[in-house]
Amino acid sequence: MPNAYISGTGFYVPPRVVTNDNLVADYGIETSNEWIVKRTGIEARRFAEEGVGTADLAYEASVQALERAGLTIADIDMIVFATLSPDYAFPGSGVLLQRKFNVAELDPPKFIPALDVRNQCSGFLYGLATAASMVQAGGCKHVLLVGAETHSAALDLSTTGRTVSSLFGDGAGAVVVSATDEDRGLRTWTLGADGRHAEELCQKVWDIKKRPFMNVDADGNGVVPPEDMWAHMNGRLVFKNAVQWMIVSLWKVCEEQGIGPKDIDLLVCHQANMRINQYVQQQLGLPDEKVVHNIDRYGNTTAATIPILLAEAERDGKLKPGMKVALVGFGSGFTWGAAILDW
Ligand code: UT7
Repeated sequence: MPNAYISGTGFYVPPRVVTNDNLVADYGIETSNEWIVKRTGIEARRFAEEGVGTADLAYEASVQALERAGLTIADIDMIVFATLSPDYAFPGSGVLLQRKFNVAELDPPKFIPALDVRNQCSGFLYGLATAASMVQAGGCKHVLLVGAETHSAALDLSTTGRTVSSLFGDGAGAVVVSATDEDRGLRTWTLGADGRHAEELCQKVWDIKKRPFMNVDADGNGVVPPEDMWAHMNGRLVFKNAVQWMIVSLWKVCEEQGIGPKDIDLLVCHQANMRINQYVQQQLGLPDEKVVHNIDRYGNTTAATIPILLAEAERDGKLKPGMKVALVGFGSGFTWGAAILDW
């Protein structure tokens, strides 16, 4: 069985920076830089311009990841696309990303299969387990795995929505998961879910149990009430569960590998709240230089946080071959996961 390792990383964030002060000045939200920084660690996020979609962000990150892997799209055997803000309700963003690479015009054409993963903040970890399993089983040599989000289109940017809208930003991260005979790569992973809390962090938009699936006005236009249109979050419950499951998952993968937290060279946490990650770091007893963050600059980019961090850490020289890397995330579902890689 081959090992599965990350052969290339890439990331893209849209150029428009929206600071906490911009939320007040440009959107009229009753909040403050002080409140947001103190509770979350977020100083700014990026918002994509109208006309830019999730597959567009993913494409930029993917081009970089392929380049760094020394591959072209023709080498890719599968696309796995993790997002909670897909371009359309259906089809998934994976096929839209595939289309942007013009694979039908390759010689010979390569109709790369594309799979969307709907696991929110844990989407990248669910995608990594899927991609690596495909590679280890011999079904694929190279899988392009992307986490990308365009949150800005679906945030209630008013005071009513501030608890959620001040947290999220747009961005994309991509990796190539490749087969290797070398003794490196993904060593172990764990995934979990607790569907009892599905509605505690949830954006319904429509309800398929209704007939039809959304209200229709006299002119035949769909009407979505605000409570369905915007995401709802029970922040305290999410916080409590995030801390618990991230720590449990990290201990589990460490135990499986017969290592302790002190053997981890780099901890890459999902970026939902700096306070969550500082607590996890503290419980594991890891020093600051072994943990990377970008929540201050990008906010929560959901499925994209971990691959963006990996790409940034590699560029900054903080992630080097041979390092033992731990990944961990938690989010809506509730869903969570962790992994250990020898980079
Ligand atoms: O990746 C997905 C996973 N998501 C998470 O992991 C998020 C986890 N949860 C959290 O990070 C925190 O719960 C939040 C940062 C979202 C909120 O912090 P909190 O300390 O739990 O605040 P809260 O929701 O209990 O709200 C406290 C107060 C409320 O005012 P009242 O009702 O006490 O008058 C909110 O309206 O803070 C108010 N508030 C704000 N004030 C200024 C909420 N958001 C804001 C805001 N600016 N942006």
